[in-house]
Amino acid sequence: MGNRSHGPCSVLPRLAIGAVVAVLLVVVSLAATPVASHGDHEDHHHDDTGVHRNYLVIVRKPYQYDTNVYKNVSSWHASLLASVCDMAKEAMEEDPGYATRLIYSYRNVVNGFSARLTPEELAEMSKMDWFDKAFPEKTYQLLTTHTPQLLGLMGAGASAGGVWNTSNMGEGIIIGILDDGIYAGHPSLDGRDMNPPPAKWNGRCDFNETVCNNKLIGARSFFESAKWKWKGLRDPVLPINEGQHGTHTSSTAAGAFVPGANIFGLGLGTAAGMAPRAHIAFYQVCYVEKGCDRDDILAAVDDAIEDGVDILSLSLGDEKADDFSDDPVSLGGYSAAMHGVLVSAAGGNTGPSPGTVVNEAPWVLTVGASTTDRRFLAIVKLGNGVRLDGESLSEPKKFGAKRPLVRDMGDGMCTSENALRSINVTGKIIICDPGGDLSTEKAKLVRRAGAAGMIIIAPQAFGLVIVPRPHVLPTVQVPFVVGQKIKTYIQTMKRPAATFVFKGTVLNTSPSPMVAPFSSRGPNRRSRGILKPDIIGPGVNILAGVPEVEGVEFARNAVMPMFDIKSGTSMAAPHISGVAALIKKAHPTWSPAAIKSAMMTTANTVDNLQKPMADADGKPATYFAMGAGNVNPQKAMDPGLVYNLTAADYVPYLCGLGYTDQKVNSIIHPAPPVECTKLPNLDQKDLNYPSITATVDQTPFAMDITRSVTNVGVASSTYAVEVDVPASVTVEVKPPTLTFNALDEVLNYTITVKSASGQPSLGVSTIEGQLKWVSGNYVVRSPILIFPGAGAGAESTQPTPQT
Ligand SMILES: *[C@@H]1O[C@H](CO)[C@@H](O)[C@H](O)[C@H]1NC(C)=O
Ligand SMILES: *[C@@H]1O[C@H](CO)[C@@H](O)[C@H](O)[C@H]1NC(C)=O
Ligand SMILES: *[C@@H]1O[C@H](CO)[C@@H](O)[C@H](O)[C@H]1NC(C)=O
Ligand SMILES: *[C@@H]1O[C@H](CO)[C@@H](O)[C@H](O)[C@H]1NC(C)=O
Ligand SMILES: *[C@@H]1O[C@H](CO)[C@@H](O)[C@H](O)[C@H]1NC(C)=O
Ligand SMILES: *[C@@H]1O[C@H](CO)[C@@H](O)[C@H](O)[C@H]1NC(C)=O
Repeated sequence: MGNRSHGPCSVLPRLAIGAVVAVLLVVVSLAATPVASHGDHEDHHHDDTGVHRNYLVIVRKPYQYDTNVYKNVSSWHASLLASVCDMAKEAMEEDPGYATRLIYSYRNVVNGFSARLTPEELAEMSKMDWFDKAFPEKTYQLLTTHTPQLLGLMGAGASAGGVWNTSNMGEGIIIGILDDGIYAGHPSLDGRDMNPPPAKWNGRCDFNETVCNNKLIGARSFFESAKWKWKGLRDPVLPINEGQHGTHTSSTAAGAFVPGANIFGLGLGTAAGMAPRAHIAFYQVCYVEKGCDRDDILAAVDDAIEDGVDILSLSLGDEKADDFSDDPVSLGGYSAAMHGVLVSAAGGNTGPSPGTVVNEAPWVLTVGASTTDRRFLAIVKLGNGVRLDGESLSEPKKFGAKRPLVRDMGDGMCTSENALRSINVTGKIIICDPGGDLSTEKAKLVRRAGAAGMIIIAPQAFGLVIVPRPHVLPTVQVPFVVGQKIKTYIQTMKRPAATFVFKGTVLNTSPSPMVAPFSSRGPNRRSRGILKPDIIGPGVNILAGVPEVEGVEFARNAVMPMFDIKSGTSMAAPHISGVAALIKKAHPTWSPAAIKSAMMTTANTVDNLQKPMADADGKPATYFAMGAGNVNPQKAMDPGLVYNLTAADYVPYLCGLGYTDQKVNSIIHPAPPVECTKLPNLDQKDLNYPSITATVDQTPFAMDITRSVTNVGVASSTYAVEVDVPASVTVEVKPPTLTFNALDEVLNYTITVKSASGQPSLGVSTIEGQLKWVSGNYVVRSPILIFPGAGAGAESTQPTPQT
């Protein structure tokens, strides 16, 4: 490495960059496992590269790449970089390493580039008239790698809900997936039943090319930014061991049919993704034990747009971003929307605290997680004959007779081997409180101490939802309330005892779906007037493909299962991406907003008992938990009406949020720059969104909200409005009927919302209702949400840690 200091750009101490915690949105452990602090600094080379840090540099509009002056956008960006300090062109020639200072030159996602800069160079650059801002590097943490789970199960197999019964399986649709790697040899990625990709496909396979096929049509790694941060990171040719998360999400979205798989003699049924005939274009942006670099993510989205993907599925997010101009999913998502690409992104796993949802730009489809109707039932049978339900993924063929039942007299969480030994657990069943390390390590401790079985109590916040995990000894995981019953039994009995009865996989359980306890909740911190999450989909105990099952001891010669179970909004997002592929296949001309609307207005708000969908605590789920509801793929294929939006429609909305012109322009790039003072500034409530949200600070209130609907159902049709709101408000819709004469006809309506007379003027409580347009078989439903504005008791934006 040569000395790269030029004139004033001399070696200076490294910039201290605060560690940023962002996450791949999969639930790792339900215990309060701390997010491994990554230690970016320690990872850096201790040579001269240390003084250079990666920055994302945004160029001001109207400074734009001029085709008459520069050959291409990267030569323009290189010239901007060379204009800083006295790093003249000669310097570039003298020092070939200089050229590598430009890491990425972006074409679609932002007006800017990423580059390696010293603090002094950055200071010089910030004086340039073309300079808008620079973001220091940011790492998205990968959290799943060390805690994979095992499932031996039987039943329907495929990701919950299975393949929707439709003749459309997503043929010709390309789903782009950004993740940590993909195991190309996986049976879910078999290309034999697939047609070649459509002619518009412009991407490539950079992994060992023999592994791509008509299913996995593209595979590329983005590590140009990451490699400067993380020592020893090399271009992974075929990241077989790095695909734990990415193989799971890819096979959930578009995995091929895999019939008759079997694990340890248990039938697995036929596994398949949501759109089993769609193509997968894989973009590796995350690295095991490292994370995902923001600038690599942006570069992948930049290329994916040009490669011709139809849908982008992102199971990563940033909990710390300030606004939409500071977040790769928002920035990339806007450019994607401009190109007709739907971005379906995980909403986060920091629920059930309010205000925790991420990826909340209105041009992104934000996905929360729900439970499925499949359980891995295990019963704790107490000595007094009482039977209590739990779940288990660690079932022996036979557990046998009753055994003494004891509590951990240490911390209660079974995390101290000494404490366990002091109570002599040999041959007994021990019950453990939530908390501590729930991974296989805890079970190993208990087994070492000699216990015959373990009962793990789930955290109280998880209500009735259990996310079972594999353990090295027979284990039943029980809801918090069940755990308290068992503890009471132990305390009141002289000789408490229990046995386990394992029932295996049970389907059609109810109530189902429920909102997953970890699924992040609204309100939307960056745009309070847009309800988020948009929708929920299956994200608890999802079975899908993995390269190999990790962290579990297998018998020698055992056939390694290639399916595993994972939970998180990471798992929900690819379900929705797959459903979006089916809609896109059926309606190739629909905009991303129309596809999103179709899913939202047809989503279910009742469970399989026809009761209002419950949250994990058993109470009815709020809109902040479930958005418009749980996805209903069949209905979404034919929604009747859609709330359409073009990318340009978000511009007056962004102005209405009070963003500066610079911020608006950095988001809407490559659209031409705008000045908000010269545009109508839209109130958030009036964005033509499929959900209806109004924030109010006091009563009485009265407001008009406008919407327009596009007829995509029956050419000649009449819709009548039905409104259902609590007595504290009145809602009037004008006109109350909409008569369409043609397909694609657009009609407007106005909703007048008023607080009912006689309401006190103090405070506003959250009001939930719904508006439906009904015609024949169509019901086009929008949630109506009225709640306090930021001024009136806004919820905490600080997520509380899960315990
Ligand atoms: C852009 O132009 C430079 C020379 O100015 C050239 O080295 C580079 O390969 C070009 N890049 C592309 C993507 O065409
Ligand atoms: C799917 O639906 C078609 C007709 O709608 C029916 O003939 C077929 O049996 C269904 N298949 C399954 C697997 O339910
Ligand atoms: C490509 O992958 C195949 C199958 O894994 C392997 O047999 C072959 O040797 C690989 N080729 C190269 C060039 O690595
Ligand atoms: C622990 O309990 C088991 C059976 O309950 C008994 O056989 C064993 O001797 C006990 N060990 C100690 C050290 O007391
Ligand atoms: C929605 O708007 C886009 C952009 O104007 C248009 O192409 C599309 O046809 C419209 N309708 C639907 C149903 O997507
Ligand atoms: C609906 O409203 C839009 C503006 O939001 C307007 O441009 C359009 O003309 C209206 N359409 C009808 C049929 O009134």
